[in-house]
Amino acid sequence: MALREILIYPDPRLREVARPVDQVDDEIRNLVDDMAETMYAAPGVGLAATQIGVAKRVFVIDIASEDEPSNLLVFINPEILETEGTQTHREGCLSFPGVSEDIKRAERARVRALDRNGRPFELEATGLLAVAVQHENDHLDGELMIDRVSPLRRRMMGRKVARNRASA
Ligand code: NI
Repeated sequence: MALREILIYPDPRLREVARPVDQVDDEIRNLVDDMAETMYAAPGVGLAATQIGVAKRVFVIDIASEDEPSNLLVFINPEILETEGTQTHREGCLSFPGVSEDIKRAERARVRALDRNGRPFELEATGLLAVAVQHENDHLDGELMIDRVSPLRRRMMGRKVARNRASA
């Protein structure tokens, strides 16, 4: 396993549309393991392959809080089948260090994907998990949370990331 470098906005590779995974083989499992390690080290609750410069449709999520056992969820070739309701949640993103924004999304999302062993599964996500699934799925289409805020907030976010980066 290895830590990968997380791309920071406005890196143009964050805008790439990821390609589906043909086969869940050892190469993909290595990618998944590196992504999990990178996410936990950051630390973050989700990471998409796009964020480490790999344009493949893979993301990992773990929304367990510090006092809960870790619960890694792996999504390969995810598809959001259905969404319902709305919620607004204060989101962060490892590609926007030090920034959080209120983002409106669906309250529930039904998602289908392959797991680390290439087995298909379906998940009915609600609340924070639904937020994470939608946020990470956006990354695979080159979409970022900055696209979901007003032009004013967008400029502020861009400036804040640049400032945090300069002081890092
Ligand atoms: Ni993100």
